[in-house]
Amino acid sequence: MDLNGVSAVVSGGASGLGEATVRDLAAHGSKVVIADLNEDKGKAIADEIGGIFVKTDVSAEAEVAAAVQAAVDSGAPLRVIVNSAGIGWAERTVNREGAPHAFETYQKVISINLFGTFNLMRIGAAAIAKTEPADADGERGVIVNTASVAALEGQTGQLAYSASKGGIVGMTVPAARDLSVIGVRVNTICPGIIDTPIYGEGEAADEWKKKLSAPVAFPKRLGTATEFAHLVRMLIENDYMNAETIRFDGGIRFQPK
Ligand SMILES: NC(=O)c1ccc[n+]([C@@H]2O[C@H](COP(=O)([O-])OP(=O)(O)OC[C@H]3O[C@@H](n4cnc5c(N)ncnc54)[C@H](O)[C@@H]3O)[C@@H](O)[C@H]2O)c1
Repeated sequence: MDLNGVSAVVSGGASGLGEATVRDLAAHGSKVVIADLNEDKGKAIADEIGGIFVKTDVSAEAEVAAAVQAAVDSGAPLRVIVNSAGIGWAERTVNREGAPHAFETYQKVISINLFGTFNLMRIGAAAIAKTEPADADGERGVIVNTASVAALEGQTGQLAYSASKGGIVGMTVPAARDLSVIGVRVNTICPGIIDTPIYGEGEAADEWKKKLSAPVAFPKRLGTATEFAHLVRMLIENDYMNAETIRFDGGIRFQPK
């Protein structure tokens, strides 16, 4: 899929992995809609790259529909959806005081990470389906989702987060099969430890990131958001990549504590 002259919607595009993706897609000629809760950052980035910001809570159907509509209205055919909005959460199934994991926090994480991805994937794909095919294969568009290695080997206290990301991995093959009839590919990336504001900022956050990234095999460092954005673009540009879940993690394999 050629990125030049198409429109794209990137959820979570105001920070971290989403922001790097927004900048990369724009640099390769796409009109990008940033669908994010963070108005200040989202607007500033959109202004910088000549994109569009739409304040969006991905768990709210109507707001996602408005972000997709903004891409349709841009005049450039909608061809790309990148799901990067997400939140982390740490809470044990039963905590040290013997209390069970709160139901509300579990619901919140599932609602943003999993339902949010589902919302943009289905509403975005329905809009892509209305475009003319872009090439002789009949391809109309590409969806890239962001899960996590926590979907595959979640750490202590990552029950809700792992469940939300596991759901994204689980949707990848059926979504790719469903959407094959409209010429849309679907791939999911499982990042390891990538240096973004999701871990917070300051000394304590740096210590935490150092600890988290200790089991990285090579290169012995955190990943960068730019490297993530490069992989997103590879998945969009390579027309034979479909229905795949890809680890992006410097070879990290987490062990139980
Ligand atoms: N950074 C990592 O190491 C890492 C590892 C694995 C997976 N991930 C996943 O990658 C994605 C991006 O993470 P990041 O590190 O860039 O985080 P980040 O905190 O830098 O960015 C996340 C963005 O999502 C937005 N967001 C949060 N809730 C939202 C909602 N309900 N609706 C719309 N936008 C919302 C935030 O405003 C923020 O701009 C997340 O899904 C995260 O779970 C990150």
